[in-house]
Amino acid sequence: MIRRLPEHLVNRIAAGEVVEKPASALKELVENALDAGATRIAVRLGEGGTRLIEVSDDGCGMTPEEIALALERHATSKLPDDAIELVETLGFRGEALPSIASVARVTIESRPRGAEGWRRVVDNGALAGEGPAAIPPGTRVTVEALFERVPARRKFLRSARAEYAGCLDVVKRLAMARPEVGFTIEHDGRRTLTVPAGEDRPARVAALTDRALVENSVAIDHLRGEVRLGGVAGLPTFNRGVADHQFLFVNGRPVRDRVLIGAVRAAYQDMLARDRHPVVALFIDMPSVAVDVNVHPAKTEVRFQDPGLVRGLIVGGLRAALDAVGHRSVQRPSAGALGAWRQEELAPAAPSPGVSGWGAPQRTGFQPSFLPRGVDSTRLFEAAAQYQPAARAEPAEALPPSRIAHPLGVARGQVAATYIVAEAEDGLVLVDQHAAHERLVLERMRAALASGPAAAQALLLPEVVELDEPGCDRLEARAAELAEMGLDLERFGPKAMLVRATPALLGRSDVRALVADLADELAAYDEALSLKERLDHVAATMACHGSVRAGRILSVAEMNALLREMEVTPHSGQCNHGRPTWVKLSMGDVEKLFGRK
Ligand SMILES: Nc1ncnc2c1ncn2[C@@H]1O[C@H](COP(=O)(O)OP(=O)(O)OP(=O)(O)O)[C@@H](O)[C@H]1O
Ligand SMILES: [Mg+2]
Repeated sequence: MIRRLPEHLVNRIAAGEVVEKPASALKELVENALDAGATRIAVRLGEGGTRLIEVSDDGCGMTPEEIALALERHATSKLPDDAIELVETLGFRGEALPSIASVARVTIESRPRGAEGWRRVVDNGALAGEGPAAIPPGTRVTVEALFERVPARRKFLRSARAEYAGCLDVVKRLAMARPEVGFTIEHDGRRTLTVPAGEDRPARVAALTDRALVENSVAIDHLRGEVRLGGVAGLPTFNRGVADHQFLFVNGRPVRDRVLIGAVRAAYQDMLARDRHPVVALFIDMPSVAVDVNVHPAKTEVRFQDPGLVRGLIVGGLRAALDAVGHRSVQRPSAGALGAWRQEELAPAAPSPGVSGWGAPQRTGFQPSFLPRGVDSTRLFEAAAQYQPAARAEPAEALPPSRIAHPLGVARGQVAATYIVAEAEDGLVLVDQHAAHERLVLERMRAALASGPAAAQALLLPEVVELDEPGCDRLEARAAELAEMGLDLERFGPKAMLVRATPALLGRSDVRALVADLADELAAYDEALSLKERLDHVAATMACHGSVRAGRILSVAEMNALLREMEVTPHSGQCNHGRPTWVKLSMGDVEKLFGRK
C-alpha cells in the first residue's frame, strides 16, 4: 500500500538530513539570523549544544502569523519570485525550523520593529503553547532536549566537548563570512567568543584563526572573468598538521567542496610536504547563476557550472600571491632523468637496545626501487633550482678509505641548506636533512619511552601558548599522558596552556608550534585510545619539532655524523611520513645522464 506520510514523519525524515548534530541545528539558526539582517548575534550553548542551543538576533523579527508559518514545512520568505537559481540568502529550502522542531523542544520568540513580541513553543512536532513575549526587537530561538525522543540519534552524540568544538567551528565559519556582524558565544555560562560588529575581513579572519596569521600570510585579490577570489593565504612555512584550518566560501556561504579543497592542495603542492596543510581563508564571488547551491540538504556543498575555471582561478591566484612574496613554485623536471634516482636497501643495521620492542613502524613499506614521481622528485629539483644562493662545498680531497664502509658515503656539501650531497663508492647520495633527522629523533624517542617516562627538560621560563578552547581541552585531557612523554603542560585560562617542560630529546624547539600541532593531532583521535596506542603519531609530531630544519647550514662534521647515525638506525631510510630520507644515483646512471654510456 502506498500512502502519503503524515507531516510530522516527513519533518522527522528531513531532520535526519538537516539536523545531524547540535552544530548543524546551530548552523541553521545562525543562518536564519543573518538572513534576517541581524547586526549582532548572540549564541548560548549548554553542554556542547546537547542540552541547550539559543540564538538571539536583532534582525527583522516575525509577526505571530509568520512564526506559525516559519514552523511549517516548505514555508520560506526567501524565494519571492521562485527563482531558486538567483538565491542570495543562506536559506531557501524552508525546512530547517520544522525539521529541528520535530526532534527537539523549540521556542521561537520574535518581535518586529514597532510591534509586540510573540512566542510559540513546539515540542517534537506538536504545538505546546503560545502567547505574548517580552523581548527586544528581533528573534530568539531556543532548542532544548535535542534528540531526546530520537534515541537512535541521541546515541550518536559525542561528548559535550566534541559537540561544542563542532558548534564553535560552525559559528567561526559564518562569522568569517560576515565580518560586519558581531558574534558572541556563551558556553555553560562562560563567554567563549566575542567578535565585534563592523570588522573588516582581514581582522576577522585573524581573530578567528590565529593572530600570527597576520604576519604569516598574503592577501589575495584575483579576478578572472566574472569570478573574484579574495581572502588570505598562509605562507607555506605557516603550515599545520590537519586541514581544519581551511575556510572556504562561495558567495558568502561557507562550503566544503572537493573542487576547492583540491585546488588549494594543488596550489601549495610544490611548497609543502604531502602531510602538511596550509591555513587559508578564501572567498569566491561569482554570479549566482554560475553556481548551484541546491545540491546538499545542509547546503555545505555547491556545484560549479565551470569547475575548471574556479580551479584555475584558485591555483593561479594563490601561486601568483605566494610567488610575489618569494615562495617560488618550482617547475617539474623531466620524469625520465629523475627515474634514475633511487633508494637502496642499506645493510640491515643492528638494532639498538630497547628499540626492537616497538616493532616496525613503517606505514608504506620500504621502497628499494625507483622513486615515485611527484613530491620527491620535486624536492630534488627544488634543490637544483635553488642551488646558487645556498650551495656550499668543501674542497675536494681524496676520499678517505673508510667510504667503503659507509653505504651513504662521505658528505661533500649541502644544497639549498636542505639537502646533503654525499659521495659513496658507487654513486651520488642526496639526503633530506630534516626528514632524516626527524626519523633519528623519533627512533631515539621510541627507545627512550620503551624504558619508562621520557626525560623532560624544564624551560627556563614557562611558556604560555594561546590556542582555541577545544584545543586546550584536548591537551588538558591528555596532560598526564603527555607528561610521560616529557611534555609538561597545564591549563592556563580558557584559551591558553602553560608549558613547563619539553621532551629533553627534542632539544630547543618552537614550543608554540609543537603544542599547536599536538592539539591538532589529538583532534583526530578517538577518545578511547591512549596516546601509547597512538605513540607513532604523537612521537612523530614531537620528533618533527625537534629536528634539524630544512634551511639550516650544517658543517661537514655534522653532515657526516648524521649520515653515520642513519646507517645504524633502524628504519632510517624513510621519514616519519613514509617518504624517503635519501636517494642515490649510481655512477652508471650519472654517466647515462651525460651520454657517456
Ligand atoms: N531569526 C529569524 N528572524 C526572522 N525571520 C526568521 C528567522 N528565522 C526564520 N525566519 C523565517 O522563517 C522562515 C523559515 O525558516 P527556515 O530556516 O525553516 O527556512 P529557510 O531559512 O527559509 O530555508 P532553509 O530551510 O534553507 O533554512 C524563513 O524563511 C524566515 O522567513
Ligand atoms: Mg533557514
